[in-house]
Amino acid sequence: YRLFDLGTNPELTEAIAKKLKTPVAQVEMQTFADNEIYERIVDSVRGIDVYVVQPISYPVNDNFIKLMIFIDAAKRTSAKSINVIIPYLGYARSDRKARSREPIVARLLANMLESQGVKRVMTMDLHTSQVQGFFDIPVDHLIAMPAQAKFYEDQGLTGSDVVVVASGPSTLKLVQKLAEVLEAQWAIVDQDRDPRVQTAVTGNVAGKYAIILDDIIDTGDTMLKAIIAVKKAGATTIDALATHGVLSGQAGENLQASDVDRVIVTDTVPIPAEKRFDKLTVISTA
Ligand code: R5P
Repeated sequence: YRLFDLGTNPELTEAIAKKLKTPVAQVEMQTFADNEIYERIVDSVRGIDVYVVQPISYPVNDNFIKLMIFIDAAKRTSAKSINVIIPYLGYARSDRKARSREPIVARLLANMLESQGVKRVMTMDLHTSQVQGFFDIPVDHLIAMPAQAKFYEDQGLTGSDVVVVASGPSTLKLVQKLAEVLEAQWAIVDQDRDPRVQTAVTGNVAGKYAIILDDIIDTGDTMLKAIIAVKKAGATTIDALATHGVLSGQAGENLQASDVDRVIVTDTVPIPAEKRFDKLTVISTA
């Protein structure tokens, strides 16, 4: 097999390559003046299983088309199989018609990947696990939870003084799992209540080490609202923990200025130096 990287998250691909003791195979890439993308697989992959790591993260549309162009190149040179590793699947939140006349973009992406002959998809912490069902090919839906649990266990942050808090109902199952592993308590934030006016936390966080969990920190609004609620409810220390640190716009600055003590994300999404901030820790999923 050969492992490829398309330049979006080379650190993660390098870390995976190191674990597999395999080199990262070369792709010649160029962007033309009009933003068209050129790609060429440097060495032959005829009859070879191809694996490519490409998060669909910012800029999501460019990164998706980069992946599609690579798949086309691999297909046309008779690769034995094309396997895509999408650590973060942008558009996964578009998983249903919430209003009439809306598209379901995650399904569209799945159709496009499949129709190009992709054999297998590996991804991590989809916004909803039902998105797996949009594909008729195998999907390995990996979870960051073991890496996150180890991060806390290594620091001795386990037991009943720790409370894992769901930032909303969609993460409750993951929260309960993490709490079980850490032998911690769990709680949930009601995002519909204004935490500046009333306590929006169900469960006991007072005097505890609170770990607020979400799948994505994008604009940071959901997490910031949860931080305010958990602080108001009396937590002594607050971590914001998420798999995908999308960190759009001012998310980093806003979190840095908030009452959170640490923001812990994984490396599924690349975080450029200018977006990093003091309270940020990145754990590897390689
Ligand atoms: C929502 O259902 C998700 O689980 C995240 O809470 C949300 O996508 C995070 O987005 P933002 O950081 O923009 O609030």
